[in-house]
Amino acid sequence: MLFRFAAPIVTVLSLCQSAFGLPFIAPRGTRDNSTPLRNVAYVQTFTDSSGNFLDLTQLVTQNTGVTHVILSSLHLDSPTEIHLNDNDIGSSYWDPLWPMVQTLQSSGVKVMLMMGGAARGSYVNLANNFDTYYPILLQILQDHNLDGFDFDVEENVALSVLLRLAQQFDADLGTDFILTAAPVASALRNGGNLNNVSWPDLDAAAASSVRPNGKLFNWYNAQFYEGWGTPNESSYESIINYGWDPSRIVMGTIVSAKAGSGWTPLSTLATDISAIRAKYPNFGGVFGWEYGVAGLSDGVSPVGWEAAIGEDLAS
Ligand SMILES: *[C@@H]1O[C@H](CO)[C@@H](O)[C@H](O)[C@H]1NC(C)=O
Ligand SMILES: *[C@@H]1O[C@H](CO)[C@@H](O)[C@H](O)[C@H]1NC(C)=O
Repeated sequence: MLFRFAAPIVTVLSLCQSAFGLPFIAPRGTRDNSTPLRNVAYVQTFTDSSGNFLDLTQLVTQNTGVTHVILSSLHLDSPTEIHLNDNDIGSSYWDPLWPMVQTLQSSGVKVMLMMGGAARGSYVNLANNFDTYYPILLQILQDHNLDGFDFDVEENVALSVLLRLAQQFDADLGTDFILTAAPVASALRNGGNLNNVSWPDLDAAAASSVRPNGKLFNWYNAQFYEGWGTPNESSYESIINYGWDPSRIVMGTIVSAKAGSGWTPLSTLATDISAIRAKYPNFGGVFGWEYGVAGLSDGVSPVGWEAAIGEDLAS
């Protein structure tokens, strides 16, 4: 009897000691969200037409079900000019953004940074001058306590550079730091591509013994628009049939005709998402490019558009 009671008491004491006797930093919760059915919002429009910052915290206060916000787009213009869109990421212009990022994070939303996109040069600059640019990138991610990094590579660069960047982030920021990439959908089956990297080859090379799925890249935000795919069942299936795990393929869509070509109405998306979920219970989820102009073609607000997708993804 005594022994049976003694064991739990020792356990409680040792727990207390580690909690109060040693320096203890409360874990913020794992950064990796390996749960499929992600609802990912890229954000590239940060202000309204009068220059007032959009209130990104509405993504949580209005129950949109958004799980990841990806701040876009970072550009490495020169070692002294690192821009988030048109403004230096270190400038006071962005002061209103960072508290909103913290609010989102404290509500469980992971906030990441995307580099690249249609404006070229960042990955080529990184390739040519990795030792100069990498520490700058690392500092930005650490300064703002961001949860992940998204590779949107729309220029030619060697696979080895992307692999090196992913490996270096993994080494410096830990295995919970989220690594994603945003190739066009067809590139995931070695079809049409916006760069010369084979994503299946890169994914195979980017192995990790400790990360989810044994890969450095947690998942891919695949662009199913602009002619590279359609956010529907057969187009999604053509990627999965190439050998991808559905939990690692997030289906990207254009949120309104203003965001690009290939806009799909919310009502069509609801049908398609439902069909894909029925076929692939471990569906990786949906992303929208991009929040600020979401819903314009559907006649709903950006928050309303995100919430509609959230409902499609909710059980
Ligand atoms: C892709 O482009 C880069 C930079 O031009 C080059 O170094 C690399 O060899 C190319 N890779 C392939 C597979 O063509
Ligand atoms: C789905 O997309 C594919 C290819 O992008 C297209 O050929 C097909 O017609 C679409 N299916 C439906 C039901 O719209």
